[in-house]
This record gives sequence, C-alpha cells and structure tokens, in this order.
Amino acid sequence: MSLTVLGIETSCDETAAAVVRDGGLLSSVIASQVAQHRPFGGVVPEIASRQHLELIQPTVEEALSLAGVAKGALDGVAFTNGPGLLGALLVGSTYGKALAFGLRIPFVGVNHILAHVHAAFLAEEPRFPLLALVVSGGHSDLVRFHAPLSVEVIGHSLDDAAGEAFDKVARVLGLPYPGGPRLEELARSMEGEGASLPQIRLGPDHPFDFSFSGLKTAAVRAHEAGASPAAVAKAFQERAISHLVETTLRALSDGDAMLVVAGGVSANTALRRAFEDALPKRRVVFPPAGMSTDNAAMVARIGWEELREGHTSPLDLVPEPLVRPFR
Ligand code: KG4
Ligand code: ZN
Repeated sequence: MSLTVLGIETSCDETAAAVVRDGGLLSSVIASQVAQHRPFGGVVPEIASRQHLELIQPTVEEALSLAGVAKGALDGVAFTNGPGLLGALLVGSTYGKALAFGLRIPFVGVNHILAHVHAAFLAEEPRFPLLALVVSGGHSDLVRFHAPLSVEVIGHSLDDAAGEAFDKVARVLGLPYPGGPRLEELARSMEGEGASLPQIRLGPDHPFDFSFSGLKTAAVRAHEAGASPAAVAKAFQERAISHLVETTLRALSDGDAMLVVAGGVSANTALRRAFEDALPKRRVVFPPAGMSTDNAAMVARIGWEELREGHTSPLDLVPEPLVRPFR
C-alpha cells in the first residue's frame, strides 16, 4: 500500500518539514534559525520556540508544494516528540497533531536520535542487523538495530556529547556558533603539528562508552597555555575522532551487515574519512549531503516505518525532552 507521510522537526534550532512516499524522499525544507541565535553564542530556548511558531506554517506549505502533494493526499503525519527543548518540541507536536486531526489521518511522535539513523536509509537500503553511531549536539550513542524499529543501546557518552564538546572548544577558541563546522575548518587549515593533547581512555568497564569532557578540558588548558587555536582545533578533532572510531569498531561485530554513522557530527569530513579508511566500501553508510544535521526527511522516513507498522500516537501524547533511544 502506498503511504505518503509529512515529517516535522522542531526539537532544537531548525524548523523543518519533509515529505516521504514509500520510503523515498519527495521534498525536504529546513528553515535555519542560526542567525537569530548567533549573537548569544548558542541556542536560546525561548527564541527557538518563538521562531518555530513563525516558521512552521510556511515551512510545511513549502515542503508540500515542492513535493507536489496536496494536504488531502497525505496518509499520515510524523513529528519529533523528543529528545529536545520542551517549548520547541511543543510547536511541532501541536502543529502535527492539529493538522492530522483536521485531515482525519493518523499521526505518530518519533524519537529524534533514532530518526538520525533513518536519514542514512535515504542514501542506502538498510541491511540488518546494523550498528549505528549517532553523534550529535545532544547525544553520542551506539545503537544496534535488529530491524527498522527494533533497537538495543550498546553504549553512550558518560558526560558531554561529541558535538557539545566540539561546540564548547570552538567557543573557547573564539569561533562563532555553531562551532563544530568552524572547528573542522580551522583544524583543516593547520599545516603543522597539532597541540599535545591526551588520548581518551576509559576503563574495561566501559568498552563501548564515550567520554569527551576530559579532552575538552585539556584543549581549553592547552589554549590557555598559549597553543594556537588552529593547533588546538587540529589535536582536539584528531583525538575526538580516534576515540569515536576505535570505540565504534570495537562494538562492530562480524554479524553487523553495515555501520551507519549519523547525527550532526557525521557531517565532519575527517570523521567520515577515518571510518572509510578503516572499513571496506559499502560497509559504512552516512546520511545524504545536508542530512547529517537536523532535518525533517529523517523524521518522515522513520514516521513512514512506524505508520506502515500500524504504530500511531494518541492525541494526549506529550513531548519527552529527555527520552533516550529506547523503545
Ligand atoms: O544532529 P544535530 O544537528 O543536532 C542535535 O540533534 O544535537 O547536531 C548538531 C551538532 C552541533 O554540535 C554541531 O556543532 C555538530 O553537530 N556539527 C559538527 C559538524 N557539523 C555539525 N561537528 C563537527 N564537525 C562538523 N562538520
Ligand atoms: Zn539532531
């Protein structure tokens, strides 16, 4: 049965809408709020909520129009229900519910972390079981998928998320928000040796977990001690990437048909290259260009899987700001 799903994403600072039909992407629109948050050096929750309110309607209309799909032709609506900022999540969930209710079609609230992994399924058909590394501003998780919606959490960050550490170090180095991509550019510009930073080591009790706060502090100390921003950026990025790659490869088993690396930090070219160098071709898959960071295509993609399994949410569903990737 053909199924056309509208996806809505408002968990943080991007207002996004997308249309997926039968697992394939018809349109994806992202209205970024970066300019509004930049003067404050990070996302201001109240500004994010207000921006979502202003942007949600035109963003949804544009996604439908680009897809050539009338509202009446939709079979379902999916929106991010968590994790994320409560006020921001409320805008997308309330809009999604109201739209679906008015159209008399089902809706489903989806998990943002698992949605990041589904972005990669828009690039390549998934083969199960698969291991997924989700590295974003809020989460660093290793998750095994036994099926599109059946997951087992293998490891997670014991402190900062990878993207959060990139952003905090970038801020100390004087780079504008959002810091992760700027830190990558600065690291690339460094021709010589990077600063001297320790390797991240976790004990045998945490073979599949991550930790970034020690590395972050060491980077800040190196900067205070006079290392150049480019040298700190280069060393920080190298250490963070080797920690991510080594931990993930330890968790990857011969039984895993593929590895997916998703979430905002998976936009990092050096990280992608490190995984591609370590693994044979087609074993590692990333989201399509522009879909590592927050978008609604991933929400529509996982929503399509949920709705075709008959999973729907009730009208009194409440957003879950802190939900982990458990089902
Ligand atoms: O997935 P995402 O858009 O939002 C969350 O769900 O958190 O991830 C945003 C994070 C930010 O911390 C941002 O700095 C980081 O992803 N990021 C990067 C790069 N592009 C985005 N970090 C390192 N290198 C990049 N090229
Ligand atoms: Zn995200």
